[in-house]
Amino acid sequence: MKDLLGAQLGQIVVAPPGPHSRRLTAELRAVESRNITYVGHDFPIFFSQAAGANVVDVDDNVYVDLSGFFGVAAAGHSNPRVADAISEQAHRLLHGMGDVYPTENKVALARELCRLVPGDGPKRVIFASTGSEAVEAALKTAAIATGKPGVICFTGAYHGLGYGALCVTDRDIFKEPFRRQLGDFARRAPYPHCYRCPLQLRYPSCEVACLGAVREILDGPDGSEIGAVIVEPMQGRGGEVPAPDRWLQELRRLCDERNVLLIFDEIFAGFGRCGRWFCCEHAGVVPDIICVGKGLSSGFPIAAAIGTARVMDRWPESAGEAIHTSTFLGHPTGCAAALASIAELEEHKLVERSAELQGTMRDLLVNLQKESKGKIGDVRGRGLMWGLELVDVAGAPDTACAAATSLAAMRLGVIVLTSGPHCNVIALSPPLVITLEQLRFGIDVIGRAIASA
Ligand SMILES: Cc1ncc(COP(=O)(O)O)c(C=O)c1O
Repeated sequence: MKDLLGAQLGQIVVAPPGPHSRRLTAELRAVESRNITYVGHDFPIFFSQAAGANVVDVDDNVYVDLSGFFGVAAAGHSNPRVADAISEQAHRLLHGMGDVYPTENKVALARELCRLVPGDGPKRVIFASTGSEAVEAALKTAAIATGKPGVICFTGAYHGLGYGALCVTDRDIFKEPFRRQLGDFARRAPYPHCYRCPLQLRYPSCEVACLGAVREILDGPDGSEIGAVIVEPMQGRGGEVPAPDRWLQELRRLCDERNVLLIFDEIFAGFGRCGRWFCCEHAGVVPDIICVGKGLSSGFPIAAAIGTARVMDRWPESAGEAIHTSTFLGHPTGCAAALASIAELEEHKLVERSAELQGTMRDLLVNLQKESKGKIGDVRGRGLMWGLELVDVAGAPDTACAAATSLAAMRLGVIVLTSGPHCNVIALSPPLVITLEQLRFGIDVIGRAIASA
């Protein structure tokens, strides 16, 4: 099956979850903390292999994956070049000593990141293993560089769940049990979510009036303590919401005016996901620090914060004891995976492909909306990162419909996730190698799933 895998359509041979998945669910239930894997009557299925935009479960069902597994599999699932690079590196030198005895490919990847991320001047990199850690490296950098603890963040934001990142993430369910252990350096402003405009205005005639809330915080009682703004140019887990170009441009101007650093979290939206290497390129806005992860390696846990030398060089020189590091920092196998993934994106022009497929994606989804009898309230996205916001007859978020849609799609051979504060958005972030036929199949299945939900 592996040889044929990659460009297949979904093929369900036994109703998922099949017997092997059910057995593994029961076994996992006995040994994993109850909070982690969601277990329901029809959930989960266990995957055993993947290629391109196909994944296969342990009962031999083949699926078309429209999730990219959290938007990670940019160069395709188990991309052979990435897998070979991992294998070759693992056999030579699996693990390094990142901040003490580094490896050659850490230099190569840092150089690649400095080349790829927007901005002309010299840049510097801090490596991390997860997105959450990259965000925390950016927050620490801002504190070091500005001497100010305050950070402006946004409604709907998702920056990860480490205690630092959690302070700027906006989702009560993640924060509530830990509230008393969280710092209070973050101030929250409304994200420019045009479909659910906090001011009930319309873009562009609104003249991005919602940015006034950021100005108010900066003019407020602790405005002088704000050193940075952190924002996703397109929110992912917040419901696939792109910030309007004008808003990002005005935000940049405001940060410059007030001498505040601008951090872009492109952990989800970067590496071609939005039809450019980085989503902020649509607006032509360059941040002071950019966080990357997920699609950086197409599947190995590695992330980074990359900033201008002007900002990053405020960190003190290491005197032998790095004040910010971790055991797996600049992991050689992760660096090998990322270098291979970047080479794949470039050689196969996958960023351009993501841009080219944007129109097709929009047309297919808008058609779906027309046929949805009002169940799809909004269609939005860029490149190969799209959201279908499901609503009830009153226009309120329809969480149940989204959950039922995702389950029905899985049973029909298509993997999709839900996103947004109400989990009512069908989130689409397929591998950038997905074929047109797979995309059409996947969207047709979503249409049928919504109709049945
Ligand atoms: C925009 C964004 N930032 C940060 C993170 C956290 O990354 P990780 O789960 O690797 O810690 C995510 C994860 O979904 C994300 O989408």
